[in-house]
Amino acid sequence: MTDHYAVFGHPIAHSKSPLIHTAFARQTGQDIDYVALLAPLDGFAECVAAFRAGGGRGANVTVPFKEQAWRLAGRRSARAELAGAVNTLRFDADGLFGDNTDGAGLVADLTRNLGIELAGRSILLLGAGGAARGVIGPLLEQGPARLTIANRTPERAVALAERFRTLGPVVGGGYEALAGQRFDLIVNATSAGLSDELPPLPDRLLGPDGLAYDMMYGRNTPFLRWARAQGARCADGLGMLVEQAAEAFWLWRGVRPTTGPVIAMLREGEAKGVRGEV
Ligand code: ATR
Repeated sequence: MTDHYAVFGHPIAHSKSPLIHTAFARQTGQDIDYVALLAPLDGFAECVAAFRAGGGRGANVTVPFKEQAWRLAGRRSARAELAGAVNTLRFDADGLFGDNTDGAGLVADLTRNLGIELAGRSILLLGAGGAARGVIGPLLEQGPARLTIANRTPERAVALAERFRTLGPVVGGGYEALAGQRFDLIVNATSAGLSDELPPLPDRLLGPDGLAYDMMYGRNTPFLRWARAQGARCADGLGMLVEQAAEAFWLWRGVRPTTGPVIAMLREGEAKGVRGEV
């Protein structure tokens, strides 16, 4: 019997998740289907309940419902607990289990696909919203020398650093404090790219062989243009998208898909001008 999964968001029409999970299912021989469902802004919990009542086995959750999904989950993984947000729900007999696979997806893309060693490195994370919060724990778990969070509203970065300080060397502040500092990796978790804006970054932030990573994908963001102008190696968030999906697939099915061919398939689609979101 086919098991049903879905991704809930608002908007959701351009989601690539059905494509990704359908490819995973084909590759691993799992009998599932996966659809994108638009939940009304004031009706997320009802939509999830209806999907579950109709035989759904689990769901992904994207903007703007990740915090609501966190509240909805009766049990949560440690990483979801810390992130304060849930992007993956599994419908168990005793209720909803919530996980957050975003950070693991980022770390998998950085280390496995891009070959970046994070242990002992200096990492700069831009932004202090939900997207940033989801990846701090998994980044610190990799044992960086330091993780600096910079944000337009410095107090939010300071508060985030405080929240995660027991997990590793993390500090938070504003952009001015970055002048003169050097990092091996800069991860952009701001939403500035959506409005074609660039956080006020000083030049020469990246050391030689440094990587600039934008969690957004399918867009030539001002951040990536800035990084290219600095001569830096650049990556967008498409690999993270596929890796977070693979983690969710693992949670639901106990099977790990191979992500490389699926990333390649999406890149090919992108080259043909197809764009999308989670
Ligand atoms: P998300 O869930 O995508 O992280 P969010 O919680 O609204 O969304 O957070 C957006 C992040 O992008 C914040 O860190 C925000 O900075 P502020 O906390 O100062 O608002 C950051 N951001 C958005 N537009 C920006 C811009 N033009 N320049 C710099 N930072 C920006």
